[in-house]
Amino acid sequence: MEGPQSSTQGPLVLLLLLLGPAWHTAARRCPQSCVCDNSRRHVACRRQNLTEVPSTIPELTQRLDLQGNMLKVIPPAAFQDLPHLTHLDLRHCGVELVAEGAFRGLGRLLLLNLASNRLSSLPQEALDGLGSLRRLELEGNLLEELRPGTFGALGALATLNLAHNALVYLPAMAFQGLLRMRWLRLSHNALTRGFPDGTELLDLRQNHFPSVPRAAFPGLHHLLSLHLQHCGVAELQAGALAGLDRLLYLYLSDNQLSGLSAAALEGAPRLGYLYLERNRFQQVPGAALSALPNLFSLHLQDNVVDRLAPGDLAAARALRWLHLSGNRITQVAPGALGPARELEKLYLDGNQLREVPTRALEGLPALLELQLSGNPLRALQDGAFEPLGRSLQHLFLNSSGLEQISPRAFSGLGPGLQSLYLQKNQLRVLPALPNLSQLELIDLSGNPLHCDCQLLPLHRWLTGLNLRVGATCATPPSVRGQRVKAAAAVFEACPGWTARKAKRTPASRSSARRTGIKRRH
Ligand SMILES: *[C@@H]1O[C@H](CO)[C@@H](O)[C@H](O)[C@H]1NC(C)=O
Ligand SMILES: *[C@@H]1O[C@H](CO)[C@@H](O)[C@H](O)[C@H]1NC(C)=O
Ligand SMILES: *[C@@H]1O[C@H](CO)[C@@H](O)[C@H](O)[C@H]1NC(C)=O
Repeated sequence: MEGPQSSTQGPLVLLLLLLGPAWHTAARRCPQSCVCDNSRRHVACRRQNLTEVPSTIPELTQRLDLQGNMLKVIPPAAFQDLPHLTHLDLRHCGVELVAEGAFRGLGRLLLLNLASNRLSSLPQEALDGLGSLRRLELEGNLLEELRPGTFGALGALATLNLAHNALVYLPAMAFQGLLRMRWLRLSHNALTRGFPDGTELLDLRQNHFPSVPRAAFPGLHHLLSLHLQHCGVAELQAGALAGLDRLLYLYLSDNQLSGLSAAALEGAPRLGYLYLERNRFQQVPGAALSALPNLFSLHLQDNVVDRLAPGDLAAARALRWLHLSGNRITQVAPGALGPARELEKLYLDGNQLREVPTRALEGLPALLELQLSGNPLRALQDGAFEPLGRSLQHLFLNSSGLEQISPRAFSGLGPGLQSLYLQKNQLRVLPALPNLSQLELIDLSGNPLHCDCQLLPLHRWLTGLNLRVGATCATPPSVRGQRVKAAAAVFEACPGWTARKAKRTPASRSSARRTGIKRRH
C-alpha cells in the first residue's frame, strides 16, 4: 500500500478521513527493524537483537510480535503507548525480569506469550492490568515458585501454561482470582500438590510421583481429565483419586505400575477412559476396576499380562473397548470376558494365543471388532467364531502363521461380516466362503497360494465378489505373481470348469459387467 499522503484516490481519502488522525500518524511510524501490516494492524519485529521495545510502533497495533529479541527486562509500563494490543508475543527474548506493572495499560490483551524465556520468578504485580487476558503462556522458563496472588488480576484467564518449569510446589493461594480457568498445564515440573479448584484439565506429565498418596487432588470437583503419563508412578495409594467426582479421563500410561489395589481407583465413579498402557501389569487389575461402574474404554496394551481369568472384568459391565494388544496372553479363560456384555471392540493382537478362545467369546453379543492378528494361531478350529455370528463386523487374523483354514472355520459368520484380514499368513489353499456375502474388504495378500484345481472354488468366489483382494499365486512357477482371479488358464483346465461355467454364465456375465463399470470409475 502507498503512503497515505501520496494517494489522491477518492475512496482512500474517505477511509483516512473516517479513521482520523490517529491512523494517519500510525501508518507513518513503522520502526526500522519491524514489518508493519497496517491493514491488519500487525507489527512484527522478529529476531532483530532489540534490547528494548521500539518506541515508534503504530498506536493502533493489535498484534505485536517481538519474538527472538534480547529484551532481558520488561520495564514498568513498557507497552503503555499501545492500548489496542490484543496479542503480544515475547517468546525467546531472554527475559529474566518482568517488572511490576510491566503490562499496565494493556486492558484489551487476550494472549500474552512469554514462553521460552529465563524467568525464575514473577513479582506479585507483574501481571497487573491484564483484566481481559484469556491465555498466558509461561512454558519453558525457570520458575521455581509462584507467589500467592501472582495471577490475581487475571479474572478472565482460561488457559495457563506452566509446563517445563522448575516448580516444586504450589502455595495455597497461587491461583487465587482465576475464576474462569479451565486448562492448566503443569507438565515437566516437579510438583506434588496445590492445584486450583475449577480446573477441568490438569496436565502433570513428566513430573515425578513414585507414589500417588491418598486424596492427592483435593478440591478438584470439576476435573474431567487428569494426565499423569511418564511420572514414574509405581503405586496409587488407596483413595488417591478421592473427591474427583467428575473425572472422565485418567492417563497413567508409561509408568511403573505392576498392579492396583482394590481401593486404588475409588473416588472417581464417573471414570470412563482409563489409560494404563506401557506399565508392568501382569494381570488385569480386576478388583480395582470394581470401583468404576462406568468404565467404557480400558487400555492395557503393551504390558506383560499373561492370561485373562474369570473375575478380571467382573465389574466392568459398561465396558465397550478393551485394549490388550502387545501382552503375553496365552489363555483367555471361559467366562473371563462374559461379564462385559456391552463389549464392542476386543484387541488381543500381538499376544501368544495358540488358538481362538472360542468359549471365552460366549456372552459377548455386541462384539463388532475382534483383533487376533500377530498371535501364533497356525490353524482355526471349526466354528471358532460361532458365538459372534450375530454381531461381528471386522475380524483381524493377519500375521497369525495360519497354514490352513477349514471350510467350517467361519461357520456362524454370515452377511454381517464386513472385513476379513488374512494377509501375511502361510495359506497355500483357501476354501470359498460364500456365506460371507457382504464383505467389503478381504485381504489375502502375502500368502503363498498354490494355484491348481484345488483353488477353483476360491477363484470362482473371488471373481463373483468384485473386490480387490490381493490374492496372488506363488506356485506353480508358470503362474507365479498372477492374481488368482486372473489366472484363468490354470482353472479352465480343471474338471468341472465347463459344466459349472455353462450353468453360471448369465450370472458371471452380469458380475463381469459390474466389475467393468467399477473399474472405469
Ligand atoms: C544479531 O546479533 C548476531 C550476533 O551478534 C548477529 O550475527 C546477527 O546478524 C544480528 N542480527 C541482526 C538482525 O542484526
Ligand atoms: C493386521 O492388519 C491391519 C490392517 O492392515 C494392520 O493395521 C495391523 O498392523 C496388522 N497386524 C499385524 C500384527 O501385522
Ligand atoms: C452357510 O450358511 C448356511 C445357512 O445358514 C449353513 O447351513 C451352512 O452350514 C453355512 N456354511 C458354512 C461353511 O458355514
